This record gives sequence, C-alpha cells and structure tokens, in this order.
Amino acid sequence: LRARVALNPASVVAPVSRRTFGSFVEHMGRCVYTGIYEPGHPLADEDGFRTDVLALARELGVTMVRYPGGNFVSGYRWEDGIGPVADRPRRRDLAWRSIETNEVGIDEFAKWAEKADVEIMYAVNLGTRGVQEALDVHEYINHPEGTHLSELRRANGAEKPYGIKLWCLGNELDGPWQTGHKTPEEYGLLAAATARALRSAEPDLELVACGSSSSIMPTFGSWESTLLEHAYDLVDYVSCHAYYEEHDGDLGSFLASAVDMDHFVNSIVATADAVGARLKSKKKINLSFDEWNVWYLSRFQSAPLPKEWEVAPRVIEDQYNVADAVVVGSLLISLLRHSDRVTAACQAQLVNVIAPIMTEPGGPAWRQTIFHPFARTAALAKGDVLRLEIQSPVYATEKYGEAPVIDAVATHDPATGDVVVFAVNRDQERAVEFAVDLTAFGTDLTVAEAWTLTDDDVRAVNTKDDPERVTMQPLTGVALDGGAATLTLPRISWSAIRFT
Ligand code: AHR
Repeated sequence: LRARVALNPASVVAPVSRRTFGSFVEHMGRCVYTGIYEPGHPLADEDGFRTDVLALARELGVTMVRYPGGNFVSGYRWEDGIGPVADRPRRRDLAWRSIETNEVGIDEFAKWAEKADVEIMYAVNLGTRGVQEALDVHEYINHPEGTHLSELRRANGAEKPYGIKLWCLGNELDGPWQTGHKTPEEYGLLAAATARALRSAEPDLELVACGSSSSIMPTFGSWESTLLEHAYDLVDYVSCHAYYEEHDGDLGSFLASAVDMDHFVNSIVATADAVGARLKSKKKINLSFDEWNVWYLSRFQSAPLPKEWEVAPRVIEDQYNVADAVVVGSLLISLLRHSDRVTAACQAQLVNVIAPIMTEPGGPAWRQTIFHPFARTAALAKGDVLRLEIQSPVYATEKYGEAPVIDAVATHDPATGDVVVFAVNRDQERAVEFAVDLTAFGTDLTVAEAWTLTDDDVRAVNTKDDPERVTMQPLTGVALDGGAATLTLPRISWSAIRFT
C-alpha cells in the first residue's frame, strides 16, 4: 500500500494558532480537587497545587485552559469561590451530583494558570444566571480598580486585573441535560444580550457563543443558525463539541473519527457563512472546538452518577489505549487542517476526567497514552499549516463510508525552515508507505527527528504501576533522497517527522 503527497510552502491554510493546544479544567470529578489542587500532597506547593501536575501540564504544551465548566458552570455561583476559604459555602453540583467545596475559585485558578503559563478561557453561567452575573464576574476579573467588585478582587489579593480576553457565553445550552437548557431562540437572545453588555464593559473581548453539544443533536445546524441570526455581529466564535469512542469493536470506524470531525467543522463553517451572507456581513465567525477527545460516553451513560453526594468523586476516569491515542493524534490533524477557521480548541479535560494526565491522591501523576500525540503536536506544529492534497488508498467503514487509510497535515515554519509532517495510518494489518515530495523546499532537507506511536498490542495502556508502557518511539522507516521522502508508517500508528 502506498499514499503520496507533495508539499508546497506557498499553499498555506493559515498560521498555526497557539490556541489550538487548549485544554479544559472543569470542577468535575477529580479534575480540580486531587487533580491540579491537593494541599496535603507531598509535592504540593505553597498554594496547594500539585507541582508534578504542573510540570506535566507544561510538558504537554497546553497553551490555554477553559474554566470552570462544562455542565458545572450552568449552576455555578462564581462569588462562592472568592474571599476567605473558611467562609466559602459548600454547594450541590447538580451536573455531576457532587459536593463543591469552593476551595478553588477564580483567584486560585488564576494563580495556577500563571504557574502553568496558560491563557484562561472563562465560561460564564447562562444556565441559571444571566446578563447581570456575567457583568459582575467580568467586573471582578477584568476591571482594573475603583468599583465594588474590582476592589473586592484587590482586597482578595489580586491587585491587577486578570485580563482574560476569551469568554464563553454559557455551556451546551442546547442539551436537555443542561441546567437551564434553552431553545435556540431563547439562547440566541440571551447570548446576544450578554455579549452586548460585556462589550459595553470591554469592547475588544473575544466572545464564544455555544454551538451544538454534538453533531447528533436534533437541532445541529439550526441551533447555530438561529443563534447567529441574533448574535452574528456580537460574537467572534461558535463553539463545537465532539467526543469519539469505539462502539462494539468497530475499530475501523473509530480510527476514522477525524472524518466526522472534518465534516462537523465544514458543516458549521457553512452554516455560519450562510448566516453571514444573509446578513450581508463581511465578518467571518470562527470556530472554538472547545471540547474534543476520545470519551467512552456510552459506559458513563450506562453507569449512573454516585447516589451519595461526595466531594471529588471518581467520574469518567477513562483509561486510554494505543488506538485511542492514534485517534487523538488524528483529531489534532483535523483541527490543524482547519486552522483558517478553527482558531481555538480545548481537549477535554486536563487531569483525571477523560484526561491525558492522571493522579492518585497522595500518590503519583502519570501520562496516559493520549498525552503523547498532543505533546508532540503542540511542540512541533509551528509557523504555517500547509494545504495538502493526499492521494491515499481508502477502506470501508461502517459509520463514515470510505475513509482514507493515510491522513496527514504538515506545517512549515518560515523562521527556521522546519517542515513537520503529522500522519496517521489507519490500516489495521499493514504498514503503509507514504511518499512525501519535499522538493519545493529544495533538496538539502534532512530528517531532524521522527517519532511514532504504535504497539503490537493496540489495547495497551499506561497505569500507575506501569506508567511508561506506551510512549513515543523513534520512527525507523524514514528514507530521504534529495527532496523525496518515504515514510513507512506502522499499522495503526500516529507519527510526527520533522525535516530541517
Ligand atoms: O467534558 C465533560 C462534559 O462534557 C462537559 O461538562 C460538558 O460540557 C460535556 O457534555
């Protein structure tokens, strides 16, 4: 089997957006408590943050973190999480049927974000709350000084405003499970009113309106269309959420999940552009793919949430295998390919909850398999994303019809001359040769590094006791002759090759 592509530095999709490498910290399960924050842990710093988790978040290359939810945010009172910790109320979190102690709120999270060197993407509650509360939390977070809430922030120890630029107008309000679920019309009006008010306070905020919570929602497309009829000029982004899993042993369809992600993105771009055309607007709405990952959602749906109300219960702590990691790598290929319109994205979530980083309370932190393709892509994708026309054999899938065996994206950094190819081989039996014509970059490129994630056992996982079972391996099958490269990609693999 053989696939081929020719790379051209003049054929640019868009610059790589650093916000593509976002993640998500929700007050859910053990993402915050015993995830990023565990004051009694031997490796906790003076603020109670686990330094082992901070180090792994930096190694992962996360650039931006969405906070504080998720479904959680739709019942959240942000002011519960400020001021002296001893005075903060314990509340029910209806989304995840757990107790929220409010030990961590925006002031603590902003400290963590500074240590992790990430931008915060902040979500306001438009489930049980509205315009006034959005304005209040904005005043607390971003207003410099001299007003009630900005002075309260200063009194709580943060003299300077946090300067958060990117704000989500609620979360998944199209979903009937969402506290405060709304019709498209209701949400469109509320998102527009909230956006208008926030912009009066700070005109150059970047605002993300909630799109559909998945492409199988009955209102998929019409939700975005109605919302944008109301809010087109007021928002910058529409959000997309998608989770993938292997159903009933159908590995072929699962490996082709990025075909669905491509279709999702193209559908929402077309929907947004159609509204723009109707409104005779020159503005383009971008996509914030602010929840994406592999998630064994059907397992969660068949196992109800704990009956008891607990603090930080173990919720959706999926353990990821090699195939899951290959799919995560391929979803990153899809996101990068759409860098002209998908300019922000968040893998959901960062720690413990469907996460690349796992922890044990009082114990170690380790990298799941899915950590590796994310970390390599975040480290290597620099400069411009190139437009590729890949010729690949195809295979039949149950879910998506014919899917290409090889999918890939490439970046070119004009500053260093580096060209990086990220490629997935979905064939379940065979290695595939991928011929990459680099002659448009001259004939003196060399291979600087070549990595692959693959394993004889595609079900292999990393655990607390065997945390390095699955890691990136050197990709040995790389031949380069003049500007002609041939990559031999192992079966079910994700690879990254940097030429310089
Ligand atoms: O990431 C887990 C949950 O998935 C989020 O809380 C919600 O927004 C989505 O349904």
